[in-house]
Amino acid sequence: MDRITIRKPDDWHLHVRDNDMLRAALPHTAKNFGRAILMPNLVPPVCTSAEAAAYRTRAMAVLPEGSTFKPLMTCYLTDATDPDDVERGFKDGIFTGVKLYPANATTNSAAGVTDYKKIEPVLARMEKIGMRFLMHAEEVDPAVDVFDREAVFLERRLTPWLKSFPGLKFIVEHLSSKIGVEFVRAHAPQVGASITPYHLQLNRTDWLGWGNRPYMYCMPVIKSEADRLALRDAATTGDVCFFLGTDSAPHAVAKKLAVVGAAGLFNAPVAIETYAQVFDEEGKLENLEAFASLNGPRHYNMAPNEETITLARESWIAPEEIKVVGPEERALIYRGGETIPWKVVG
Ligand code: NCD
Ligand code: ZN
Repeated sequence: MDRITIRKPDDWHLHVRDNDMLRAALPHTAKNFGRAILMPNLVPPVCTSAEAAAYRTRAMAVLPEGSTFKPLMTCYLTDATDPDDVERGFKDGIFTGVKLYPANATTNSAAGVTDYKKIEPVLARMEKIGMRFLMHAEEVDPAVDVFDREAVFLERRLTPWLKSFPGLKFIVEHLSSKIGVEFVRAHAPQVGASITPYHLQLNRTDWLGWGNRPYMYCMPVIKSEADRLALRDAATTGDVCFFLGTDSAPHAVAKKLAVVGAAGLFNAPVAIETYAQVFDEEGKLENLEAFASLNGPRHYNMAPNEETITLARESWIAPEEIKVVGPEERALIYRGGETIPWKVVG
């Protein structure tokens, strides 16, 4: 197969930041995707329905003329989140879901959850109104090894919630491990998971084996080859519980290359092309549409997009960086300078 037309994909996990970075980053997603869930980990975070409505307006303002792209908003969960505001935001069509960041698990998560008891009223409300719960599913207990954070979270946090909130639908964001794949399969359809391009492509030897590569550093960290193979199988079989979420996360180059470097990779300019390459390598291109365009909307109880895009086997070279007008200057692109074998042609 040298050419494939699929319904327009959606990105169920995207960071586009704010201000100058938002202006530079969002058009790269709006070009090929119908919708994307904009993550709320701004500084300060997007915690209320009013803040999310304002952020959505700022996002819409940077879209190219005539764009039909739709940003979907999330509520940044804290120990103090008000269930009434969450419900209001959901019913008014502002919030698509609530996003959990365990405090200090990742970029801009300092205001995240520290006391899991305190968020139970929010989860109960979400269960009642049919709202989705998106999780940065990593345990931040310092006694837990960074490579085991996902597995421990699933056992210690998510397993009890599945029983206490049987009507609540969960999403394990950026699924990164074989244990995680098995967990999600065992608990579908209550649990779904988004999978990034870089967890499908890289293992930890790529990241650390030939020099320390900060442009392979993200949270959850890239894991072993066995984990990568399990994720490729999960994504490409077309199972309804797995769907596209790029976790594209631009950072100014100075922050990525600092002594304590920022976690996150900017992959939006090569995202759908990279997924197509992975599905092609696995001989499963026929399942790309399910993963990219059908399974996500189904988990969120939304209709898939009506528009289509066409990808062709046609090589091009990924740009190295995007310019950012303002103090952040530029952000390097995941796979920048590499030859990409698939191209969006329509
Ligand atoms: C993300 C970011 O930069 O905002 N970073 C990352 O490593 N994935 C946050 C996140 O999704 O964890
Ligand atoms: Zn993310």
